[in-house]
Amino acid sequence: MAERNDVTRRTVLTAAALVPAVMATGTASAQTTRPAQPSNGKVALVTGSSRGIGAATAKRLARDGYAVTVNCVVNRDLAAGVVREIEAAGGRAIWVQADVSDPAAVRRLFDENDRGFGGVDVVVSNAGIMRLAPFRDMTDEHFDRMFAVNAKGSFNVLREAARRMRDGGRIITLSSSIVQLRSPTYGPYAATKAVQDMYAGVLAKELGARNIAVNAVAPGLVNTTLFTDGKTEQQIRGFIGRTPMGRLGEPSDIADTIAALCSGDGAWISGQTIFSNGAVV
Ligand SMILES: NC(=O)c1ccc[n+]([C@@H]2O[C@H](COP(=O)([O-])OP(=O)(O)OC[C@H]3O[C@@H](n4cnc5c(N)ncnc54)[C@H](OP(=O)(O)O)[C@@H]3O)[C@@H](O)[C@H]2O)c1
Repeated sequence: MAERNDVTRRTVLTAAALVPAVMATGTASAQTTRPAQPSNGKVALVTGSSRGIGAATAKRLARDGYAVTVNCVVNRDLAAGVVREIEAAGGRAIWVQADVSDPAAVRRLFDENDRGFGGVDVVVSNAGIMRLAPFRDMTDEHFDRMFAVNAKGSFNVLREAARRMRDGGRIITLSSSIVQLRSPTYGPYAATKAVQDMYAGVLAKELGARNIAVNAVAPGLVNTTLFTDGKTEQQIRGFIGRTPMGRLGEPSDIADTIAALCSGDGAWISGQTIFSNGAVV
């Protein structure tokens, strides 16, 4: 586990070094050091929030006054670190290890959340993995795991959210701009993300009467290990060169989008896929 963490951190730093102008703005770190607003009495559960977009979202929602349940599958120390950061800023958080592909583990995740905070108002189904290969080279193992974590895992989380959430809340599931881009090697991964758009559209109609807004957020080219792992510096520079704003997205960019949907201003946005990608598509 320690070895995996080292790899994770090193890879993100390498990617960050490619975009000094982005890091200089410091949006992600500024976000974590700002004190949390007083509790808003609400609770957010964010899957896959030990790092990347999920961690930024957990910290942002905590800053907005939510008590937050952080989730990981293997990187317990990173999840504990996110909780420590939230607490240091004056917020409330717990972390729970649970593999979202396992329905029993997801029930336990919600149980632990309820035990800690008494219920849930916002669920962000963010946990995800990506394995890339042309169709001819994609292995059964990688195909099956992507569908287990991204498609079935998100279903497990959204089903539990539909059963347990308090009325008037928000559900967000993470789609991807790749659903529009349809780039080579992304076939099965993109399919697991297109599923999220469908989930959000249907669940929004099922939960509308309870004033629960459900949306998919579709990021593009975000500076996390999911995007940078397996790509050379030259390839990443190539991607940056094709972005209209000349940079990768940062996890905080996506956290800001999610926070906006969770705010009072997001009440009438439901059943949509919201693209957050700096005009990549
Ligand atoms: N980065 C992008 O450019 C991009 C673009 C479009 C969409 N997205 C989507 O955004 C979401 C987050 O991506 P990211 O870039 O932040 O990824 P990331 O940095 O690789 O982080 C993935 C997170 O998901 C967790 N996770 C993985 N498998 C899990 C499982 N079976 N059960 C519970 N948690 C699990 C990881 O936990 P551990 O630390 O314990 O492994 C980690 O917290 C994903 O759904 C991804 O498809 C990302």
